[in-house]
Amino acid sequence: MAQLWGGRFTKETDRLVYAFNASVSFDRKLYRQDIRGSKAHAAMLSKQGIISAEEEKAIQEGLSSILKDIEEGRIEITDEYEDIHSFVEANLIDRIGDAGKKLHTGRSRNDQVALDMRMYTRDEIVETKSIVLKLLTTLADMMDKHIDTYMPGFTHLQKAQPVTLAHHIGAYFEMFKRDWLRLSDIYERMNYCPLGAGALAGTTYPLDRDYTASELDFYGPTLNSMDSVSDRDYLIEYLSAAAMIMMHLSRFCEEIIIWNSNEYRYIEIDDAYSTGSSIMPQKKNPDIAELIRGKTGRVYGALMSLLTTMKGIPLAYNKDMQEDKELVFDAMDTVKGCLALFEGMVSTISFNKEIMAASAMNGFTNATDAADYLVLKGVPFRDAHGIIGRLVLYCIDKGCSIDELTIEELKDICPKFDEDVYEAISLKTCVEKRLTKGAPGHDAMTEEIKACRAFLESAV
Ligand code: ARG
Repeated sequence: MAQLWGGRFTKETDRLVYAFNASVSFDRKLYRQDIRGSKAHAAMLSKQGIISAEEEKAIQEGLSSILKDIEEGRIEITDEYEDIHSFVEANLIDRIGDAGKKLHTGRSRNDQVALDMRMYTRDEIVETKSIVLKLLTTLADMMDKHIDTYMPGFTHLQKAQPVTLAHHIGAYFEMFKRDWLRLSDIYERMNYCPLGAGALAGTTYPLDRDYTASELDFYGPTLNSMDSVSDRDYLIEYLSAAAMIMMHLSRFCEEIIIWNSNEYRYIEIDDAYSTGSSIMPQKKNPDIAELIRGKTGRVYGALMSLLTTMKGIPLAYNKDMQEDKELVFDAMDTVKGCLALFEGMVSTISFNKEIMAASAMNGFTNATDAADYLVLKGVPFRDAHGIIGRLVLYCIDKGCSIDELTIEELKDICPKFDEDVYEAISLKTCVEKRLTKGAPGHDAMTEEIKACRAFLESAV
């Protein structure tokens, strides 16, 4: 047990208590941020004349050597220490002696951990944004490729109106675009430096908080010292954005699973992204899509967990907050992993265009267009809706589609039908005439894809 405190204690900490209290097994992930923050703090202490230039030099060199030794595997962050902050400080004192004991002047582990977590999360946001961007690029490429790939659009998982695969994928482009923007927003709000807030009430040393904030690439210092050490809003915002990303991935995965089913056969998932069954030799399962859908639960869980942890905490720092780490780290790894795997899976799917087009043609997806045709011939829409309804019933009875009826059969139901109806309700017309902004018609989609590309160009 190596701890930074103990002066006011007369007994050793109970072993179980020590283990229960310790966080080094998971906060060791923060070693880079901890060392970087300490270096900035030491530079500021020296600039302000709180420690000498020689002491600062010894601290800087000591911290650099600790970082190097960790990265090169010469030292290990073991469970002997309470947390990463204790590990770094104790190691520094071992290396440089008394100067190391001055590093913590004007600082508390409360502002230190708040700083480390912010820096870690900030980097994660940047990394996650770049993976989302890669996925968006892949989706835009798929949209280009499938602008004329017809498929049914669904409501209530019932065939509704024909669309294109580009149009369907475009919906996900919008979702992931919002995810990217959401992460950017969170970054803007969180990028303020809590260092210098001390335990909760600042400090009597003349710290220069603007200096450390700028050294550490923050927009500036946080405003209120009590908020600085007890704010975990940015983690909740991050988890909420992460949960939303998972929800979008999960919806897409659900569709991929449906499309891949024996009943649909719209797609073939690449062998590299499928798995077999130990008993049923014919099986090729969409396990990756299912796992991504499944992992959504743990990210939602992390969000609920942290919201609940934070809800009853009085100001300022309380140890409850240590519970933020494991679940946030887990969510970060899960989201990045799922995004990357999903991108790989979706970019290697092959689409059975004929089956998709055939599926778009049956199921009366052109019923709305047939009604619209009658409207153009002067029938009020509500009447047209009723006529086509009866027509559909007739077709179901006969086991055919609307376009398979003869002109006589059509005229029997409504004399307004003419030969030009077949053209008007063909799959191609049904899609290509949908030219309102955001609709699947070729020209409208071309515009939409242009906007997607413009977003990708601007997203840095
Ligand atoms: N391990 C602690 C955490 O993650 C660091 C802060 C400890 N501060 C304290 N006063 N015990 O929250």
